[in-house]
Amino acid sequence: MRILGIETSCDETSAAIVHGTPDAMTLESLVILSQDVHRLFGGVVPEIASRQHLTGIVPAVETALRDAQVEMPNVDAIAVTHAPGLVGALLVGTSYAKALGLAYGKPVVPVHHLEGHLFATLLEHGHAQPPFTALLVSGGHTLLLDVPAWGRYQLLGQTRDDAVGEAFDKVAKLLGLPYPGGRPVEQLAATAPSPSHGHPHQFPRPMLRRRAVISDDDYFDCSFSGLKTAVLHAVRHAEQAGDLEGQRASIARGFQDAVIETLVEKVYRAAKLRRRTRVVLGGGVACNGALQTAMRERFAGRGGEVFAPSPRLATDNAAMIAAAGLFRAMKGEHADPAMTATASLPI
Ligand code: KG4
Ligand code: ZN
Repeated sequence: MRILGIETSCDETSAAIVHGTPDAMTLESLVILSQDVHRLFGGVVPEIASRQHLTGIVPAVETALRDAQVEMPNVDAIAVTHAPGLVGALLVGTSYAKALGLAYGKPVVPVHHLEGHLFATLLEHGHAQPPFTALLVSGGHTLLLDVPAWGRYQLLGQTRDDAVGEAFDKVAKLLGLPYPGGRPVEQLAATAPSPSHGHPHQFPRPMLRRRAVISDDDYFDCSFSGLKTAVLHAVRHAEQAGDLEGQRASIARGFQDAVIETLVEKVYRAAKLRRRTRVVLGGGVACNGALQTAMRERFAGRGGEVFAPSPRLATDNAAMIAAAGLFRAMKGEHADPAMTATASLPI
């Protein structure tokens, strides 16, 4: 089967062609039009995102078809993100997919954006198959899932407040770094001396009580707003001491270490409870090299395997939507004409 994927849930207008079966998939083309305009505002402006999707959707799809040397009649189905996300942005993708489906007589397959993130890794690592523990960490989501099989997702934990990526973005702002802040914070943190050389910034590890028990309601959940406030205090303190420049890297490092230790511990607990040896990471924060390394080190002793997509497939893209859509389409699922965008929908 050959499937066209369309993704417009946030600030990336993306189209891709994927060919094969869920066991053996080939990515034939991927176009991602990133809306850099949001940098001016320090965050995504929904109305601007919708307008940019409107101008980007046709060229994105046409380029994806051309790059794959495929024409619409040779496409078997169209997969489109229908939830969750910015409703105006999602509507551009779902309306376009439905129109294209109607014009060419192709089935349209609605895809949950987060299920897409779970399938992203499969495009590069054929072994990233269930059962596995999944950590989805982006600007909008922080979810810990148990995945016994494709299509079966049990939510074990999530953030009580800020998403991890959001915390990176806010800390970046405090440190005078550009938006989106994840990569700049990681780069700045990498220049700090290692904790073994007298690391001065030790921030709290939120909801990580050492002697936690599974019945604790925060055993798998996390929280990042307290950590963000601790960073704010450290920045103010450094400013008052007239030494923010000297302490920026150390603050970034202290923040990143606290986030990573929390996430690795939560994933480890989930994998141990469900006896999973595979871990799949997804979402923009999964690009973080220090997070990937810490996760691999933690699981190495258990003979575990940690899979993370390359940055192009970790952040929002249509290839992952096509991959998840392929699985759904092969099960015979497709949208009825009333299918529409939904801003929030549990996985
Ligand atoms: O998945 P994504 O592209 O978009 C959604 O939010 O859905 O994720 C973007 C988020 C941003 O918050 C960005 O700061 C974060 O991912 N991010 C990172 C890194 N690269 C991107 N966070 C930490 N380390 C990184 N290297
Ligand atoms: Zn996403």
